[in-house]
Amino acid sequence: MTAQTLASARILLIIGGGVAAYKSLDLIRRLRERGATVRVAMTAAAQRFVTPLSAEALSGQPVRADLFAPTEQSGMGHIEFSREADLLVVAPATADLIAHMALGLADDLATTTLLATDKRALVAPAMNLRMWLHPATQRNVATLRGDGVLFVGPDDGEMACGEYGPGRMAEPLAIVAAVERALQAPTVLPLPPGVGLPRGGALAGRRVVVTSGPTYEPIDPVRFLGNRSSGRQGHAIAEAARAAGAETILVSGPTALADPPGVRVVRVETAREMRDATIAALPADVFVAAAAVADWRVEDAAEEKIKKRGDGAPILRLVENPDILAEVSARRGDRPALVVGFAAETQALIDNARAKLKRKGCDLIVANRVAIGEGTFGGAENKVTIVAADGIEEWPRMGKTEVARALVALVARKLTGAP
Ligand code: CTP
Repeated sequence: MTAQTLASARILLIIGGGVAAYKSLDLIRRLRERGATVRVAMTAAAQRFVTPLSAEALSGQPVRADLFAPTEQSGMGHIEFSREADLLVVAPATADLIAHMALGLADDLATTTLLATDKRALVAPAMNLRMWLHPATQRNVATLRGDGVLFVGPDDGEMACGEYGPGRMAEPLAIVAAVERALQAPTVLPLPPGVGLPRGGALAGRRVVVTSGPTYEPIDPVRFLGNRSSGRQGHAIAEAARAAGAETILVSGPTALADPPGVRVVRVETAREMRDATIAALPADVFVAAAAVADWRVEDAAEEKIKKRGDGAPILRLVENPDILAEVSARRGDRPALVVGFAAETQALIDNARAKLKRKGCDLIVANRVAIGEGTFGGAENKVTIVAADGIEEWPRMGKTEVARALVALVARKLTGAP
């Protein structure tokens, strides 16, 4: 599985009630300096030590503290809240918060979020040394480790209460390093296969892999080659596949979109990362290549930022990226039963799509015009033509959600051989 980087990570920081809460304000700053998005939830006790206003100013996001505050979308704040994050960080984690987590108690926003989450948690304990060394706390920590919860610290040191020993919260930079390590492995906690999926859908019992969004190909640490894909169509297809009962994996390039509910999302940046994540997601019954994969990458991306020089602009040498669609189509043994590609064309739509169908060895091509003014890239609607070896189907202009549902229905019919 491809590692995520802190630069594109979304962190949900849960601040518990301890003197160390002031250090969590610095932690917000350190994480954001490295490009992460940080949202903050505070327990009632935390607000006795630091104010939501400080956390809000530093995170640049509204701070949540109330389980029952209505949210814009559905009123299920704790669910959305954790779903939008890649990793939950609990800092400082008090003995009480750790005990709540170990027992699965959920009586405020922080603990309910921790119980409802589908993401891994990283815990930075902070408490008096006797509370830390107490068998009850040690038992709870062992339980949580067994559940896959990660820990950083506590450190030994002089404590606010005057004693010396283990119990000081790890320093913000040590927590940042632990976050980086945690992002190296998948942070989504998978449900057992099939659990949580709607029953009786057209794709029940099937596994679908979808690529979506653009890829970013680095030029140097701050610049990249990218494209205008928003990921809306690919994400909508993953959502529709999941709604039709399929276990769905979405391999997504950088987008501003929320993860579709119930879909396992693997976030990548480059074409090569997308290729690796896609192959790792196989075997599958269906593969839909909706991503706008960069055809080329810079051969030698610079490790340091390229500086302006007196002797003219740098020349970038490009090399071809792996063709994920062609590679999946050509696989032996674990080739999905149905492979669907997209063709974004500015001219000769059908001819080019037919040629692509053949060249890439797929079963269906969803062809769309992407000329300036069509509004397909980034827009909410799409006008597509479905090209198969045995004929073409023109679909009317529809919302991308409708295109996704219609495509999933077509895929389900093709899989079962229905007309
Ligand atoms: N695709 C892919 N990997 C690539 C390039 C494209 O998986 N490296 C997939 C896209 O997800 C899409 C299809 O191939 O499903 C068509 O991509 P497109 O960019 O339109 O086609 P190209 O192969 O780039 O052909 P051309 O540039 O000639 O249009």
